[in-house]
Amino acid sequence: MEELINKNHQGDCTEIMTKIKEKSINLILTDPPYNASKGGVNLPDNKTGGAYYKVNEDWDKFDKYSDYMDFTRKWIKEADRILSDKGTIMVCCSLHNIGEVMMALKELNYKPLNIITWRKPNAMPSITKRMLTHSTEFIVWFAKGKPWTFNYDKMKKYNYGKQLRDVWDFPSCQGPERVKGENGRAAHPTQKPLKLFKRLIEMASKEGDLILDPFIGSGTTAIASQELSRKWIGIDSNPEYITIANERLNKIKNQKKLKL
Ligand SMILES: C[S@@+](CC[C@H](N)C(=O)[O-])C[C@H]1O[C@@H](n2cnc3c(N)ncnc32)[C@H](O)[C@@H]1O
Repeated sequence: MEELINKNHQGDCTEIMTKIKEKSINLILTDPPYNASKGGVNLPDNKTGGAYYKVNEDWDKFDKYSDYMDFTRKWIKEADRILSDKGTIMVCCSLHNIGEVMMALKELNYKPLNIITWRKPNAMPSITKRMLTHSTEFIVWFAKGKPWTFNYDKMKKYNYGKQLRDVWDFPSCQGPERVKGENGRAAHPTQKPLKLFKRLIEMASKEGDLILDPFIGSGTTAIASQELSRKWIGIDSNPEYITIANERLNKIKNQKKLKL
């Protein structure tokens, strides 16, 4: 088990999670496929606010609706085995998958704590102009049992000393924070803002806690955990993303060394 900690692991998350000890994880923070890719509009030359293209990835495609529900139930069942009794789980969602994720968690008797609305002031305009501009995503936060960790007082600093509410503004990940490939475009299509993940981790865990992200992508959860002195385990099925996540971690470690 120790050999898994503070590392990224390549493979299917439901398989890799079987190596993790029962009830050993304090917090699961993850951003799974949303089942939002259906092909269609692509904007290869659009550089609005940075390199951007519509998410259209094989790993985000499921043939039938029931396949996505089965996939969601499968990884959440394995996550439940390894989450501690006082642990909580946070799952990033959009309108495409929030229903399925909440259903799978409720089927396992998890208690809904919050749906955090992430509002993006720099949301991309609607391409088709057939509906309102999507400018929000959601993080559903559920508890397995009691008492769960909620750093209530620490959160007040984000609302002028008052109780923090459940709508948070963060620009989508652009500029120098966005990892770019050799072609100058985003290296990972759905890199999440580091500040958003740091706030989630600060809210729902303690220093030294062990955090799992079974869909680590470009490594945002790993970096946020490390910067907040938490331990972490990252998993992704795509070897290229594991390389990107490891390179990102190394770059930050080297920057820290230079500052010392
Ligand atoms: C929405 S992205 C995560 C992005 C990440 N939060 C970030 O900031 O970069 C979802 C990730 O899940 C990975 N993935 C898809 N199916 C998987 C599976 N069965 N097991 C592990 N990883 C998987 C994809 O390769 C993709 O990188």
